[in-house]
Amino acid sequence: LTVIEKLAQRVDGLSIASLARTYPTAHPEINPLDLYRVHLSDVLSKISGVDTSIIYPVVMWTQGLDKGDFVVAVPALRLKGKKPDLLAQEWAGKFPENDPLFKKPVLSGHFMSFFMKAEPLVESIIPLVKQAGKNYGKNHFNGLRDAKDPGSGQKRIIVEFSSPNVAKPFHAGHLRSTIIGSFIANLYEASGWHVVRMNYLGDWGKQYGLLALAYQRNGDEEALKKNPIDHLFKLYVQINSEMTAEKDLIEAQKKEGKNVEALEAASLDEQARQYFKRMTDRDEVVLAQWQRFRDLSIARYKETYSRLNIQFDEFSGESQVAEKSMAKVADEMKEKNVSREDHGAVLVDFTQLLPGKEGKRLGTTVLRKRDGTALYLTRDVCELLGRHKKYDFDHMIYVVASQQDLHLKQLFQIIELLGYKDVAKKCQHINFGLVLGMSTRKGTVKFLDDILKDCADHMHETMRANKEKYAQIEDPEGTADILGISSVMVQDMSGKRINNYTFNMDAMTSFEGDTGPYLQYAHARLCSIRRRVSLSEEDLDSANLSLLKEDHAVNIARMLSQWPDVLQNTLKTLEPATVLTYLFKMTHVISSSYDHLKVVGSEPELMKARMALYDAARTTLANGMRILGLTPLERM
Ligand code: ARG
Repeated sequence: LTVIEKLAQRVDGLSIASLARTYPTAHPEINPLDLYRVHLSDVLSKISGVDTSIIYPVVMWTQGLDKGDFVVAVPALRLKGKKPDLLAQEWAGKFPENDPLFKKPVLSGHFMSFFMKAEPLVESIIPLVKQAGKNYGKNHFNGLRDAKDPGSGQKRIIVEFSSPNVAKPFHAGHLRSTIIGSFIANLYEASGWHVVRMNYLGDWGKQYGLLALAYQRNGDEEALKKNPIDHLFKLYVQINSEMTAEKDLIEAQKKEGKNVEALEAASLDEQARQYFKRMTDRDEVVLAQWQRFRDLSIARYKETYSRLNIQFDEFSGESQVAEKSMAKVADEMKEKNVSREDHGAVLVDFTQLLPGKEGKRLGTTVLRKRDGTALYLTRDVCELLGRHKKYDFDHMIYVVASQQDLHLKQLFQIIELLGYKDVAKKCQHINFGLVLGMSTRKGTVKFLDDILKDCADHMHETMRANKEKYAQIEDPEGTADILGISSVMVQDMSGKRINNYTFNMDAMTSFEGDTGPYLQYAHARLCSIRRRVSLSEEDLDSANLSLLKEDHAVNIARMLSQWPDVLQNTLKTLEPATVLTYLFKMTHVISSSYDHLKVVGSEPELMKARMALYDAARTTLANGMRILGLTPLERM
């Protein structure tokens, strides 16, 4: 028997198999709280005569451990007749004293709070976490095409995130997209979906013609190989300022009434235009050059992404959208009257296509300029349909700053207007707010590497402040790097995505408060306890868990039991803060227990039981951190 089957056995007449039949969405082998909910619904149903199918959905989580493990608000059952307060009293009176899983309910008006009994909980949750290990909390049923059929195959999702622009700065919007996107990809993976991590580079347009010109004139092969992102950016900045000076000169001459035709024809702007024209005409020589810049940049990006535990499955990008398929989509749009021509340009006028407010909100937008260049939106339309063809996805998420809300609304709307309503329905924009005041000590932020380096340096200084501790750290550089990354990420994920926040180096690298370093410290401390006691894995497996009677111990077990529910709920909110808030609550419960539940120095049996508890806590904490994209530190 599994631990969960044993837990079910405590309840008369409850078997996992029968439970699965009545509640197809309950998976107690993965989430023991499902079993508790089912049992509670059964008991309350017997007492009240209300059907379990009505009770089960209103068994809710509580605000905190002091409010119980579950709460039922009697009015939520929508019963006619008796006052809810009185019903609550009546049912509480009838609740069996000797229920195998729950204590007698605690009442507050029409709220009934339920607390789990200590022994069955600790005896099942600790072994369950130990057995599941890295998989504790994951629920692969969520990703099944048919939730009732384990053989039905995985659903597919594309998560598009990060998407920086080659030769341009990696700004806060890209940073947030990277952090949040990676989290969402991890979350879906943990929920059993097949995930494609996609990066859609900004790598096409006249400016890349300009960049190529810059390289022809001032490029340095060695510098390019050494740090392509840096070198290309420098070249780009340089030629851009030259071009601006040139434009100013031309303007000035124009004002003086001079003929500027010759100047314009020889200008950088015109050369860039011609160069880019060769790119779009698929001239092999210039394309090979561009491909090289792109490949080298991607190789460099990959190094940085791997520091954040991110591996992309595909580097797509604006350059990868073929002119041919864009021409096809353009024809289709014209045919279906989605777009129309206006003075040689092609545009979509939503105000005419959609009645009322929605049309006004979406306005009018240009797809193709008079000179024939396709714009950002056209590429996205084409790319979206291409991805659907290639991957046949069930869902696609775009993780892009809220500044592009309108752009993505227009995109999805165009897809719908073209008649692909089913495809449009599968697409979702996950947006987020701004980061205010983000700058490194060397000035404004340019690249992801600069941000991470700066945070690592800051962290390193903080660590040095405690000389004694610092001396004990084996790899201070590496540790500071991970702590720095954790600082940035936790700060970013602390609030709701849509909120703006201020980049605050001092606050985020502090060990006090709900910060990245604090979370890492909580994990490292659990690891250090494990190292200090000489107990084998068998010792932990054979521990007498019924010794864990103290409130502090039971509260940790109660926190651990919530993790599968938290993960399940996060799939609905898609907010990293849902996970993070839980992890901080858990670490607070753990850290307040250390004085009461000593491991080192306790008598052997107690030591084993407590160590097994802390070990389960460590596993759960680490699992949560990994979903967020953090690397749990074992020492610091
Ligand atoms: N490269 C774009 C930017 O930096 C973000 C791309 C967003 N994704 C998309 N499919 N449009 O603004």
